[in-house]
Amino acid sequence: MTRFLVTGVSGLLGLNFALAVDGRKHQVIGVAHTTPLTWVNFKFMHADLTGPGVVEKLVEETKPGVILHCAAIANLEACEANPEQAAEVNGQLPGVIAASAQKHGIQMIHISTDAVFDGAKGDYLETDPPNPLSVYARTKWQGEQAVLAANPQALIVRVNFYGWSISGTRSLGEFFVNNLEQGKTMKGFTDILFCPMMVLDLADMLVEAAQKQLHGIYHLVGGQAMSKYDFGVAIARTFGFDESLISPASVLDGGLTAARSPNLTLNTDKITKALGHDLPEFERGLAKFHAQYRHGFPQYIRSLS
Ligand SMILES: NC(=O)c1ccc[n+]([C@@H]2O[C@H](COP(=O)([O-])OP(=O)(O)OC[C@H]3O[C@@H](n4cnc5c(N)ncnc54)[C@H](OP(=O)(O)O)[C@@H]3O)[C@@H](O)[C@H]2O)c1
Repeated sequence: MTRFLVTGVSGLLGLNFALAVDGRKHQVIGVAHTTPLTWVNFKFMHADLTGPGVVEKLVEETKPGVILHCAAIANLEACEANPEQAAEVNGQLPGVIAASAQKHGIQMIHISTDAVFDGAKGDYLETDPPNPLSVYARTKWQGEQAVLAANPQALIVRVNFYGWSISGTRSLGEFFVNNLEQGKTMKGFTDILFCPMMVLDLADMLVEAAQKQLHGIYHLVGGQAMSKYDFGVAIARTFGFDESLISPASVLDGGLTAARSPNLTLNTDKITKALGHDLPEFERGLAKFHAQYRHGFPQYIRSLS
């Protein structure tokens, strides 16, 4: 049994990870910040991890086997609006956690992003140099560097995922479903390519990566590249919604303040080799997302706050 200390446990990844992984095989202790949590079985607490001494105290008290660091300011527009906070949470905090993990001999998994790349090339390898375009991306890359400087044994995974969140609005998958089920029209960007992974598949892969004690940088995204428009259409078809509600559009017409990288497809050969198997298929992940919808999981997860 591994005890995971999960930061950002009220977030899209942290909460889905905790709900899926805490149980007989593994234990999760979660840390949320401002979002109230109720009716969850895993242990959790609230803390501002940027407070002086907070991380060290938490690590000493909980004695985890693995720290899964998901906490971040992950909204791109929020980072543009508050770059100092983004620098503190995304850029500096990961280094503090990595140093504490190193001091106590604890395995650390740091969650980073595909957005560290400028998207000019696509099919990025772990050895390709990042060139972040936004405050979010820049501070996330600073976070990676802070982690490796403090703790070379840490694992950094660059991800992109979707699933159901406590706010009901955190993921792109939810954006499409929320609009489609209400019969609203929406734009789908044809000029942004990415490799989405269902969050439950990501949770499984993270547990495997922890068990294999991987370290260094890995790309852990879905095995299939697609545009954001194609992703929306795939959701509409799987859920039986009207795909014509999604109009193909350019990101330049999206009214977004933070710059977006056009081709964020990442090469996953390194992680596939390390895990010894292919990554979960996109269609199967989407089927899980749909099955959760049919079973009322979106309402359930929203009721946890
Ligand atoms: N979503 C994606 O598709 C995506 C793509 C690439 C990479 N990522 C990365 O994946 C990770 C998880 O993303 P997510 O989408 O799950 O994020 P999210 O839903 O926005 O959740 C962020 C979490 O961080 C916590 N947090 C923020 N500031 C904190 C602080 N000062 N102290 C303690 N906790 C704090 C929040 O707590 P409260 O809500 O309780 O305040 C929340 O639990 C992030 O590192 C993100 O950069 C996400």
